[in-house]
Amino acid sequence: MKVGIDSISFYTSHYFIDLKSLAEKRNVEFNKFYLGIGQEKMAVPPPDEDIVTMGANAAHQALQDVNKEDIKVVIFATESGIDQSKSAGIYLHRLLGLSSHCRVIEAKQACYSATFGVIFARSYVQNYPDSKVLVVASDVARYGIGSVGEPTQGAGAVAMVLSANPRLLELDPESGCYTEDVMDFWRPNYRDEALVDGKASIRIYLKALAEAWHQYHLKSGRQYTDFVRFCYHMPFSRMAEKAHVQMMKIACGPGCIEEEALKLIEESLLYGRTLGNSYTASLYIGLASLLENSPLDLAGNRIGFFSYGSGCVAEFFSGIVKEGYQKHLHKAAHQQMLNTRVELSYEEYENFYNFALPQDGSACRLAQHETGLFRLAGINEHKRLYENLG
Ligand code: CAA
Repeated sequence: MKVGIDSISFYTSHYFIDLKSLAEKRNVEFNKFYLGIGQEKMAVPPPDEDIVTMGANAAHQALQDVNKEDIKVVIFATESGIDQSKSAGIYLHRLLGLSSHCRVIEAKQACYSATFGVIFARSYVQNYPDSKVLVVASDVARYGIGSVGEPTQGAGAVAMVLSANPRLLELDPESGCYTEDVMDFWRPNYRDEALVDGKASIRIYLKALAEAWHQYHLKSGRQYTDFVRFCYHMPFSRMAEKAHVQMMKIACGPGCIEEEALKLIEESLLYGRTLGNSYTASLYIGLASLLENSPLDLAGNRIGFFSYGSGCVAEFFSGIVKEGYQKHLHKAAHQQMLNTRVELSYEEYENFYNFALPQDGSACRLAQHETGLFRLAGINEHKRLYENLG
């Protein structure tokens, strides 16, 4: 039985800062951000938006033509958790009106956890073919103001329905994974901003890619030329390009030309370049970007995926695009969302960044910003209060 991605949608904040404004403040030539790291804009969530509201917005769209009663598991993947105990997925489960007979769990392993959700969902649906699994990945990438990671922040969520006989992409059974205990990027419980050893993180990402690909290749026997496109975890678009050039050198050999190879990832980078890092959502926002922007009819062709979560766990896997997939995309809604975003000045960015919810349980009602169909209305007695605006 074929199992895979039946529906995909993503959401990002209505607000962004252009990295030219950040470069000016940091006294950096803007092309370091535009060309050197390959990022142009960075999504910045307002105070009344968080991983739950972003995830719910993405999932609301992904569930448009799916029977909600069929969703038997929700996996909420994030490394921007809002509670040490309760899954963010439970708030989302209520906001979306999902069935009570549905399991909900939060998964964490840096930017890898959505891929765990996808791989788990594949096995689950194979066992229970009438069931569907909703995988939601939602993150706010946050580094210190003025830190080296600052231009690689961002925010976004993606939601995917995994099912039997999927309409978009059938997952192949083989995958290659790699785990190693490393300290390239982490966020202790007492911090709101990630800590990172940037240069080491790039080296380890590339090492994990080589290892995961090697295992995938041994298991599947597939070669570089078996793929029509590739999607990579994308903390910034130059990282995906560096990864793909390495992939080409390892798997394709001297016959391959770098400029040609980079065309195989071009369309997958488009959305991420304008919303920044969305951690565990980023690989799959890359898939939406590819499916919605490729001039090539991808039907019947294989796509390679590389997922990387610092710390680290990585996985290389693949899937085949389904005939007629174009009819089931949410391209118009995504483009409308991206085209109507509002640019923040540097000062407005700092204000959003510095906003902090009360930590003493005192009641607070948040000013309303544009947050799609859902918002965090406030806090009372340490409880988060979400509103459905639909
Ligand atoms: N014009 C064009 N290019 C320029 C330039 C200019 N004016 N000035 C500099 N550059 C280029 C540099 O030559 C360099 O290019 P190469 O990478 O090809 O050598 C690039 O811009 C970046 O310059 P630096 O190396 O000097 O940048 P930096 O020291 O400021 O750090 C960074 C860059 C390491 C990515 C940093 O932003 C960071 O730490 N980010 C967070 C960590 C991260 O995203 N790691 C990725 C792997 S880990 C992961 O994937 C998990 C995750 O999501 C976090």
